[in-house]
Amino acid sequence: MPLVTSTEMFQKAYEGGYAIGAFNVNNMEIVQGITEAAKEVNAPLILQVSAGARKYAKHAYLMKLVEAALEDTGLPICLHLDHGADFEICKSCVDGGFTSVMIDGSHHPFEENVALTKKVVDYAHAHGVVVEGELGQLAGIEDDVNVAEHSYTDPAQVQEFVERTGVDSLAIAIGTSHGAYKFKPGQKPALRFDILAEVQNRLPGFPIVLHGASSVIPEYVQTINRYGGNMPDAIGIPEDMLRKAAGMAVCKINIDSDLRLAMTAGIRKHFAEHPDHFDPRQYLTDGRDNIRDLVKRKIVNVLGSDGKA
Ligand code: G3H
Ligand code: 13P
Ligand code: ZN
Repeated sequence: MPLVTSTEMFQKAYEGGYAIGAFNVNNMEIVQGITEAAKEVNAPLILQVSAGARKYAKHAYLMKLVEAALEDTGLPICLHLDHGADFEICKSCVDGGFTSVMIDGSHHPFEENVALTKKVVDYAHAHGVVVEGELGQLAGIEDDVNVAEHSYTDPAQVQEFVERTGVDSLAIAIGTSHGAYKFKPGQKPALRFDILAEVQNRLPGFPIVLHGASSVIPEYVQTINRYGGNMPDAIGIPEDMLRKAAGMAVCKINIDSDLRLAMTAGIRKHFAEHPDHFDPRQYLTDGRDNIRDLVKRKIVNVLGSDGKA
């Protein structure tokens, strides 16, 4: 099966009250851990690549890794550009075989965001590729941009944005944020479900995307700190809130930080238990196994996309 777009995945997810996991990939072990998990529970997948991942691993390598995963698993897989900053990177990914791109114009004023997003949509749609846009800004760290405060999505703008740009899905800001430190120590995690409900009300049937949706699973942070790490208290998005969002209009849930924590925890533990090891296959196996376990848990307990491939 060739790479697919997310169109059918989102339609079924919306109707079925579940969400598709969109996992960031940077190397072979991450691709394998995610796709092995999805295969075990028969889940459709979005694998996403950031500009940083493209710089680290190179487009051609990531493309071939994902093609290998397709061949190996036979699953429906959509290959997506995460946080495309400008038209050029989106075009390069469309031309280079991706089936979905995000144009992240959320840092621009509304009219500029509309114009930039529409330009990407026109090009992508002419090539059979779907587009995710964004309205509102998440707090947190994303590439080189560090945003201190949320700028929540204004539901009054979403209809006009979708109609004028022609985007296929929309990322919104309801209180999630990128990275491992989403809430301050002692702060109670909260999301603006009222905004999500109002967006859904104004765009019935339209797929919504949640960025910054890692739960920052405590057992991985504890393992990292037990074996030589020094991470401050990290708080993520509680799993029950993600399940609630998946039952509403959220069809795509982005997860990167949890993958990083799982892999690092596996490798740190490996070295603590086997300080004499120096064969990368030994410690990367533990990193990959942790990713596989994490992704299975996400698909079954949080996303609800198991059995939906
Ligand atoms: O939203 C950002 C993703 O976690 C990708 O992070 O730009 O460091 O690859 P990155
Ligand atoms: P996390 O940092 O919460 O994993 O978010 C990842 C993300 O939104 C990628 O676009
Ligand atoms: Zn993101």
